[in-house]
Amino acid sequence: MNLTTDVSGLELSNPLMPGSGPLTGDDERMIYLASLGLGALVTKTIAPEAALVGRACIVGGRDIIMNSEAWSEYPASTWIHEYLPKTVASVDTPIFASIGYTKEDMETLIPALEPYAAAYEVIPRYVGKDLVSVGQIVAMARSLTQKPIYVKMNANLPDPVGFARVCQENGAQGVVAITSLGPNMVVDLKNRRPLIGTPDGFVWSSGPPIKPLALATVHMIKKALPDLSIIGCGGVASADDVLEFLLVGADAVQMLSTAMLRGKEMYRKIIADLPDALVRYGFSSIEEVKATSLGATRVNMEPSFPQIDHDVCNQCNICVKNCPYFAMSWVDGKVHVDESRCFGCGLCESRCPVHCIQGVLD
Ligand SMILES: Cc1cc2nc3c(=O)[nH]c(=O)nc-3n(C[C@H](O)[C@H](O)[C@H](O)COP(=O)(O)O)c2cc1C
Repeated sequence: MNLTTDVSGLELSNPLMPGSGPLTGDDERMIYLASLGLGALVTKTIAPEAALVGRACIVGGRDIIMNSEAWSEYPASTWIHEYLPKTVASVDTPIFASIGYTKEDMETLIPALEPYAAAYEVIPRYVGKDLVSVGQIVAMARSLTQKPIYVKMNANLPDPVGFARVCQENGAQGVVAITSLGPNMVVDLKNRRPLIGTPDGFVWSSGPPIKPLALATVHMIKKALPDLSIIGCGGVASADDVLEFLLVGADAVQMLSTAMLRGKEMYRKIIADLPDALVRYGFSSIEEVKATSLGATRVNMEPSFPQIDHDVCNQCNICVKNCPYFAMSWVDGKVHVDESRCFGCGLCESRCPVHCIQGVLD
């Protein structure tokens, strides 16, 4: 099965790469991640000076990570003289150098990173909503390298398409959508303070709960700017998730939180699962998914009612308990749908753990 993907002229062996973060925070971690078969590596964000990071700085829930990390805790000089030379000497995996944050930082960093970077991921974090400054940072980066430039987007920009357009107009090949969502808070009730966070008490959230926002952001940018390349990021946890991002318009996909919640081997597993997932959905390659247009939403003004397969139903009661229209009940030991109440919303079908409910969503 052909898993290769073209990302602005770089041929990656598969579409999965890590999101910038602690898993790629030095040469040892980068080399280990490369051994898992990733299509590309992305460094922890490099800035001229080391970040001062308050600890503790990461907490995890069942499927969410909240963090108050900043950029790399090592200065650019350590990356340039130690981590990147050692990584490049050990692995062939293309490296996206994640770099922040200002025009001046681009001038300092890009010439020194040129021997190691296959592409750049530019983080205009502190000016994310000021599109004039974003344009100037991207234009500066463009003037310093011929290599692909991707600009990483905040999760909650007021105008994601406008942001992406400014990046494209100033010479970026693409955007990475999205970074962690915030500011958020985690409260330590016992001690009456934020559990972790910035001095203001804020954290940024990532993992599966942000996937719907990431998909929508990728989709709206692709629709408006079809020639701009997009790397999808946010909440990926399976091979199916990778295909979803490609179908809505991404050329490749990044993942971080799932590897921090369920183990780094998840990278290897997802890559290994891709061929079966492609076959299951009728595709013969990654490029074929990318070339496929997302169909229109099916919107019916009349309800389709849930059909229950009573032989498969395990009587878990979830559908009866949760139905927001009070349409489901038990009649003679079986789930019964009262069609006079049922709105055909789809919640029961989406939540049935044994998939015995059909007919609303599919
Ligand atoms: C602990 C942690 C540290 C992160 N550090 C960076 C960083 O240095 N630079 C950056 O651009 N994004 C950083 N991110 C954001 C991730 O790269 C990614 O965009 C985000 O987590 C969403 O993807 P995910 O849901 O797969 O984790 C960090 C995320 C986490 C959880």
